[in-house]
Amino acid sequence: PPADALDLRAHIVDLPDHPEPGVIFRDITPVLAHPEALASAVDQLTALTAELGVERVIAAEARGFLLGPALARELGAGFLLARKPGKLPRETIAVSYELEYGTDHLEVHADLLPPGTRVLVHDDLLATGGTAGALCSLVERLGGEVVACSFLVELGFLGGRAALAPHDVHALVRYD
Ligand code: PRP
Ligand code: HPA
Repeated sequence: PPADALDLRAHIVDLPDHPEPGVIFRDITPVLAHPEALASAVDQLTALTAELGVERVIAAEARGFLLGPALARELGAGFLLARKPGKLPRETIAVSYELEYGTDHLEVHADLLPPGTRVLVHDDLLATGGTAGALCSLVERLGGEVVACSFLVELGFLGGRAALAPHDVHALVRYD
């Protein structure tokens, strides 16, 4: 990590029993609210992937949009939006993925990823890997190459890292 890297864990607030009993919710909004923590989060994410030749960062609404564009800017890459169905105005390709209860869908504009483009999949938090895995399959269906997946937070006990294999997974703060 950068020499002046802040301990971001100190800026993540734990909420016991949210949204249901037995779950500890990790709230990253204080990282975003704190000027030095925000800068350090972007710097640390950049350092993890700066050597990968990233040409585009892709992230899903809503919370993937928090750091994704800043990370893309630091990497000298472009940013691709994956949105809920019906939000993007032009021709899209869609992917469905499993949630704990039911199915969700994401769409990207189909013409924004030239074949062979090197893509970083980013999100604020890795839980089961369903969301990031859906982004990986969208990228690959468009002929792009997923070079890694990066997250601010990894909930290690939910198995997302294994679910994303063989893609490399990078995270700044891990909870086991
Ligand atoms: C959260 C989080 C990740 C996803 C991680 O988003 O921001 O995108 O869950 O979970 P997974 O690894 O099991 O897919 P959420 O679905 O709550 O939507 P939001 O970004 O709109 O808040
Ligand atoms: N924090 C934030 N988002 C989440 C969490 C969490 O603990 N679990 C699943 N999505």
